Amino acid sequence: MQKELIDRYGRKLDYLRLSVTDRCNFRCYYCMPEEGMDFVQRKELLSYEELDYLASLFIQLGVKKIRITGGEPFVRKGIMGFLTQLSQQPELKEITLTSNGSITDTQIQDLATLGIRKINISLDSLDKQRFFEITRRDRFEEVYQCIQNLMDQGFVVKLNCVVDGNKNTEDIIPFVRLTENSPLSVRFLEEMPFNGTGKFEPPRWNHIALLEYIKEFFPNMRKVLDEKNSTSVNYQVPGFLGTFGIIPAFSRTFCGTCNRIRLSATGELRTCLYGPPVTNLRDVLRGGASDVALMDEIIQAVANKEKDGFEAEAKSKKVPKKSMSFLGG
Ligand code: GTP
Ligand code: 5AD
Ligand code: SF4
Repeated sequence: MQKELIDRYGRKLDYLRLSVTDRCNFRCYYCMPEEGMDFVQRKELLSYEELDYLASLFIQLGVKKIRITGGEPFVRKGIMGFLTQLSQQPELKEITLTSNGSITDTQIQDLATLGIRKINISLDSLDKQRFFEITRRDRFEEVYQCIQNLMDQGFVVKLNCVVDGNKNTEDIIPFVRLTENSPLSVRFLEEMPFNGTGKFEPPRWNHIALLEYIKEFFPNMRKVLDEKNSTSVNYQVPGFLGTFGIIPAFSRTFCGTCNRIRLSATGELRTCLYGPPVTNLRDVLRGGASDVALMDEIIQAVANKEKDGFEAEAKSKKVPKKSMSFLGG
């Protein structure tokens, strides 16, 4: 019988977010301090062979979609070889990626050849100076060109824009206007407490404020159908080619339909982005566990998945000193 990962609330987890590195060539303020962090040493990382093997176990357990995350996936050497290997897993329906746009032209062509069709790119501003202030890197043109190239090659592209009251609210409406002639899905995100500093203020620009603000400019905007298990609530301005959405990442209105499980680059398994690691599959694997034992470990972790990991973590009353670049988003 086909195995499945179902938690005690009846949620079927068939979407694995696989982080391949905690490193990144950008320094977005909401993700890590300007000076960077103590990045993980190479021997602590899961090798590509280990990642591919663990992915195959998740697939045997019913995972149908794998999103490759980081840090920035394209800063890890050999990533294309790994994607080639992963794309040969017969039961896997979809491989997607989240990147900051550091993807070269040749990689874009190779991704298309592997059958990867969907990519999410982080872009928080359409203004070069604000982009620099947010990412602390002067790479706006490159990222913008990458987005254009992806669209030209027929990729389904979603943009992630983390909204901050002091940094990029001037960009909200231009981002919606960008969807007039581009088949993009722009998603505005609430900021989450994973900036690596342990300091955080809940976002004033939450999903309700964002929606009301956009409605003032586009009163005729209308709701569109969301993908199954979507984190974003999506809209379209009539006549526009693309759509826009809001991800209540901090308000977490979508936990009830969560279908995600996460593996960090060092093997930490999380059943919730907000929760602690529930086991370390690298250690279990390197300890010599069999396929069956590893799969049991995953099944057990899923069985104990919290209804909402934020509530469980919040009991500690401390803002965690975690970075999104380690958690993988
Ligand atoms: P698709 O729905 O597959 O397109 O991807 P996605 O939107 O889940 O992935 P992406 O990597 O683009 O993430 C967009 C934002 O949603 C990021 O800020 C993620 O951290 C956030 N996000 C993704 N999954 C979760 C989740 O399970 N909980 C919370 N709170 N936020 C999430
Ligand atoms: N809050 C919300 N989103 C974040 N991301 C990174 N850090 C944060 C944060 N603290 C987003 C990035 C990327 C996605 C994986 O997560 O913009 O697109
Ligand atoms: Fe890099 Fe993404 Fe973190 Fe920005 S949010 S520093 S692009 S990993």
